[in-house]
Amino acid sequence: MSPIPATSPTPPCAELHLHLEGTLEVPMVLELADRNGIRLPTPDEDALRRRYAFTDLASFLALYYENTAVLRTAADFAALTGAYLRRASEAGVLHAEVMFDPQAHVARGVPLGAVVEGVAAALEEGGREFGISTGLFAAFLRDRPATEAHAVLDELLALDAPITGVGLDSAELGYPPSLFADVFARARALGLHRIAHAGEEGPAGYIVGALDLLHAERIDHGIRCLEDPALVARLAAERIPLTVCPLSNVRLHAVPELAAHPLPGMLAQGLNVSVNSDDPAYFGGYVDDNFRAVAAQFSLGAAELARLALNSVESSFVPAERSRELAGAVEAWRAAQGQ
Ligand code: HPA
Ligand code: ZN
Repeated sequence: MSPIPATSPTPPCAELHLHLEGTLEVPMVLELADRNGIRLPTPDEDALRRRYAFTDLASFLALYYENTAVLRTAADFAALTGAYLRRASEAGVLHAEVMFDPQAHVARGVPLGAVVEGVAAALEEGGREFGISTGLFAAFLRDRPATEAHAVLDELLALDAPITGVGLDSAELGYPPSLFADVFARARALGLHRIAHAGEEGPAGYIVGALDLLHAERIDHGIRCLEDPALVARLAAERIPLTVCPLSNVRLHAVPELAAHPLPGMLAQGLNVSVNSDDPAYFGGYVDDNFRAVAAQFSLGAAELARLALNSVESSFVPAERSRELAGAVEAWRAAQGQ
């Protein structure tokens, strides 16, 4: 891929597909390991960086969960979240709906209360400092039993955790949405929003399952929808949001190369697609880097980038007034680009 000029303009947007643990940059891994007295399996920085050449989702998740072990205290989670918001604000993010993985921490003996306390405090403080509105989603690990997801939901309720909704992530193949129908029904009855990863490595049928069985309001990734024309027609007609993460798809070999990414085809079919960074510390960039990459690869102009950004605003769960404000910022950006 040719280098992307760092100065190319990218639009203000809402970031809707972001794993907080996936913003853990190598320097912070090393710093927190040191602070918390944790011996890393790969303590040498260069050797650690060499492990970022992933072959698939599973090979990435192994390192992602390994690095996550350095996060122990509320202060660690606040530092992680604050660093993301600072970088996101530089990327033009005006609204961020971020996920975290409660089970990845509880399983290591970290109290869920400490995780929520640190993340929530940083969202509030960083949001104020950078003018970013935020939402928080607790994602269930689909390769763990549904009983664990129920226990996490119980604990989040007991903590009165300030969550916008629930999500579903981790290893997809072999773990269909149907396994989590009950816990998503509980979340829905509680008035929580629902998002789910589907159609990243898994088949288009998992997207159908996420919609029909989980009542997901937004699909994370969803790129394999194109294998099912009836599903594409439904997604387009209902304007179901698909939070696409181009650099992630390349780095996890969900697509062979960026040139083969289905984003232009998805846009051409009228799908409600947004651009997001997924796990920016692992996949080579934040949301602005993703915008620059697709703009360069597919010769997208300001009008198309603004369309993607307006899709992100439309697909967020913000109140109508904030939505109008965000859309106004995107329209102003487009006008300033002369389009
Ligand atoms: N896919 C599925 N699960 C995840 C991801 C991802 O890209 N990142 C963190 N958990
Ligand atoms: Zn993801």
